[in-house]
Formats: sequence, C-alpha cells, structure tokens
Amino acid sequence: MSLLIRRPRPDPDDLNEILAVHRAAFGREDEARLVEQLRASGRNTFELLAEQHGEIVAHLLFSPIRIEHGDDNQALGLAPMAVLPAWQRRGVGTALIHDALQALAASPFRAVVVLGDPAYYGRFGFTPASAFHLHDIYGGGDAFMALALCEGGLHDYRGQIDYAPEFANLTD
Ligand SMILES: CC(C)(COP(=O)(O)OP(=O)(O)OC[C@H]1O[C@@H](n2cnc3c(N)ncnc32)[C@H](O)[C@@H]1OP(=O)(O)O)[C@@H](O)C(=O)NCCC(=O)NCCS
Repeated sequence: MSLLIRRPRPDPDDLNEILAVHRAAFGREDEARLVEQLRASGRNTFELLAEQHGEIVAHLLFSPIRIEHGDDNQALGLAPMAVLPAWQRRGVGTALIHDALQALAASPFRAVVVLGDPAYYGRFGFTPASAFHLHDIYGGGDAFMALALCEGGLHDYRGQIDYAPEFANLTD
C-alpha cells in the first residue's frame, strides 16, 4: 500500500472526491454537506486526506469547539472522518489519525475531542472525556472522548462542549 497523506488542495477536484468519500462511507449526504458547510464558514481548521495511486480514499476534519469553562480556543473537535468502504480495515484511518495528531501536537492546539467508538479511538490515546469533567450535548457517554496534545492540555477545561454550529444540521 503506497499511501500519500497530505493537506487538501483548494481545487474543486479535491473537494468533489472528498465529498464522495464521506457519502460512500456514511451512506448518506449529511457528512459531505457538513464538510462543505465547515469549509464555507472557514471552520475547517485542519484537514488531512489519504491518497492511493492518485485516488482520495480517506479524509478527516478538525473544527473549533466551544468549552463551557476555561475555553481558550485551543481545542478542536475531530469530525467527520471517513475512509472509502473498499479501503476500510486496511490501516488507512489509523495512518491518517496518527499523522493528524502528530501535526496538531506540533501546533499551538492543546487538546482534541471526538465522539466515536472507544475501542477505535482508544488506540490513539483518547479516553472518556467525563474523566476531565467534560461532556457533549449528544449524550455520548464514554463514546465522547478527549486527548491532550501536550502536558496538561486538558487542564482548566470543564463542562459542556459544543461543536461548531454546522453540526446542528446533522440528522443524528
Ligand atoms: C471508522 C473508520 C474511519 C475507520 O477507518 P479504517 O481505515 O477502516 O480503520 P483502520 O483500518 O485504521 O483500523 C481498523 C480497525 O479499526 C476498527 N474499526 C474499523 N472500523 C470500525 C468501526 N466502524 N467500528 C468499530 N471499529 C472499527 C477495527 O478494530 C479494525 O480492526 P480489525 O480490522 O482488526 O477488526 C472507517 O471504517 C469509516 O470510514 N467508517 C464509516 C464512517 C465512520 O463511521 N466514521 C467515523 C465516525 S466517528
């Protein structure tokens, strides 16, 4: 597998392929529309994609979150993330997340949250956000997880986390 991981280019071909990855992975339009809306509002803080022989096979996006107490605009939410069905379970998602977290760890950002499968995201060091007195608005329980990108990265953050307004348009 010769995987190339890179930032998206600002051209329509990249965008169309990225949207197609989300449509295929989620089997609906919502996440593709979310990517478009986050890009339109400029809340696509960090994006990364994986390419295989010139075809975009995976994409993820981090956007700003609002934290009830202690917010300093240095934490991000990971969503959406998608791998083309034909490329799933081949390590593409793992490679993409690893590279993304490495890049963010070298940035001023302090922490990342995600709502997803604990067994999957636990591999990257995510742990239930409730241990840091943080909760989401979706009732995610232990599926709502946080990761400090640096020493003390989650210190001072408390309470409810709100994703960017564009997430309100998701149907579930
Ligand atoms: C979830 C997803 C991003 C994982 O990417 P991936 O490239 O398939 O994952 P990797 O190959 O890096 O890792 C594979 C391992 O992750 C786990 N895994 C993969 N997809 C999973 C899923 N949907 N639920 C739970 N565990 C999953 C499995 O343990 C798998 O290991 P195994 O093959 O030994 O059983 C991808 O499957 C996907 O796009 N799914 C549909 C969209 C989605 O659910 N996005 C995430 C929303 S939080």
